[in-house]
Amino acid sequence: MKIGILNQKGGAGKTTIALHLSHALALRNYQVMLVDADPQGSSRDWAMARESDAPFSVIGLDRPIIHKEIAKLAKGYDYVIIDGAPRVSDLTRSAILAADFILIPIQPSPLDIWAAHSVVELIQEAEIYKPNLIARFVINRKIVNTAIAKEAVDVLQEYPYPVLTAAISQRIAFAESLNIGSTVLETAPKTIAASEINALVDELLQTIEQERHVTEEIIKA
Ligand SMILES: Nc1ncnc2c1ncn2[C@@H]1O[C@H](COP(=O)(O)OP(=O)(O)OP(=O)(O)O)[C@@H](O)[C@H]1O
Ligand SMILES: [Mg+2]
Repeated sequence: MKIGILNQKGGAGKTTIALHLSHALALRNYQVMLVDADPQGSSRDWAMARESDAPFSVIGLDRPIIHKEIAKLAKGYDYVIIDGAPRVSDLTRSAILAADFILIPIQPSPLDIWAAHSVVELIQEAEIYKPNLIARFVINRKIVNTAIAKEAVDVLQEYPYPVLTAAISQRIAFAESLNIGSTVLETAPKTIAASEINALVDELLQTIEQERHVTEEIIKA
């Protein structure tokens, strides 16, 4: 299963979520590869900052050939997570073509939600060729103890993809753990930050399973 963490808006939380998701899946004993598709190389920097080997493979591939290389790269892995680049559409387009599932991290502000229309348009273009493509939004940097602003939710509903119930809050622990080449699953495994990541992974795996079921039913019918 190939999961693209994509949004051309800079700073949406792609790298934070890609690294935490990869680590969480590795802790569940899956073979995981993280493809750093961003020329900024943030995920590669994270792996370099680690003192020990990363619990999953990290490779850099920041040219728009991800969709051509993915089958070869994915051999032997249960999950391939693609950490996308901001702005550059050809890299995002290549990552969309490479992925089975697109997770779009988004900050719950109207400006960020409007900016997501670029990635939504690219996904819709790809759906012509890949009708089984699944896409979901995930709210990142939700302010703890606040409801997501109503106008933000209203604008999000204009997009054709659902928002996952699991959301990631604004917590300093996420940024601090990544700075030292770790994740909250290692630095703060018993905190709410770690439970938010695990809840996201649970919902993601359930969604993938449900969608697979729907596809099988359609094939049978
Ligand atoms: N939930 C969060 N809580 C606290 N800080 C966060 C959270 N999510 C992201 N950040 C911080 O916000 C900044 C941007 O996050 P991140 O690098 O994950 O976004 P990105 O989408 O990968 O950015 P880019 O588009 O530049 O690749 C980073 O400094 C990160 O530590
Ligand atoms: Mg990034």
